[in-house]
Amino acid sequence: MSFLDAMTWRYATKKMDPSRRVTKDKVETILEAIRLSPSSSGLQPFHVFVITNQALKDQIVPIASGQSQVADCSHLIVFAAWDTYTPERINQSFDYTIAQRGVGTNERTENYRKSLIAGYCARDPEINFQHTSKQTYIALGIAMAAAAIEHVDATPMEGFDPAALDTLLGLREKGLRSVTMLPIGHRDEKNDWLLALKKVRRTKEELFTHLD
Ligand SMILES: Cc1cc2nc3c(=O)[nH]c(=O)nc-3n(C[C@H](O)[C@H](O)[C@H](O)COP(=O)(O)O)c2cc1C
Repeated sequence: MSFLDAMTWRYATKKMDPSRRVTKDKVETILEAIRLSPSSSGLQPFHVFVITNQALKDQIVPIASGQSQVADCSHLIVFAAWDTYTPERINQSFDYTIAQRGVGTNERTENYRKSLIAGYCARDPEINFQHTSKQTYIALGIAMAAAAIEHVDATPMEGFDPAALDTLLGLREKGLRSVTMLPIGHRDEKNDWLLALKKVRRTKEELFTHLD
């Protein structure tokens, strides 16, 4: 299946079949796509929770306005962004990259590190959280595309109470705040009202301006 066929096949599934699990290898592929997603300065300023515990998924349903996909999905992926940038977090990321590459550091890297620490750590944490949240959306988008290629259904979700989810998962104590969720599973073809409806997108003419 081509990439565009997969993007056409996918839709924000409204009803998942709770009896169908996503296979381990497909889950691993989707999670690896998240891990490989790019982020600003390579900081990957988020953590991803993969929830299969049914009781916990059931507890999240009311936090997500009763959306049934949360309970019926095979795996519930929760993207939680760093609540702010700190020198420790930035240093850990730089030190890890330097160690992984095994080539030592250099002036350019160290100047970049210093400029990020000076620039980010002095800012209002709320501004930093906006920035870290944006990075989760890149991973969310890539996860959706990866799921589609694997013929796994997925529903991107912002329709939940982040503060309530943070409390339930104990995220604030970990310096994290929930941003989006992505239930993955398999569509319930008989009962999903959205499946029969045309996928609607703005026309190319309306969406794109080519400046040749
Ligand atoms: C960031 C984001 C948040 C969304 N939140 C929800 C949600 O909470 N529940 C839901 O059923 N769909 C949600 N959607 C799905 C969109 O409504 C859907 O992607 C859009 O209408 C396009 O339709 P399609 O994905 O079926 O092609 C969300 C999509 C995005 C990208």
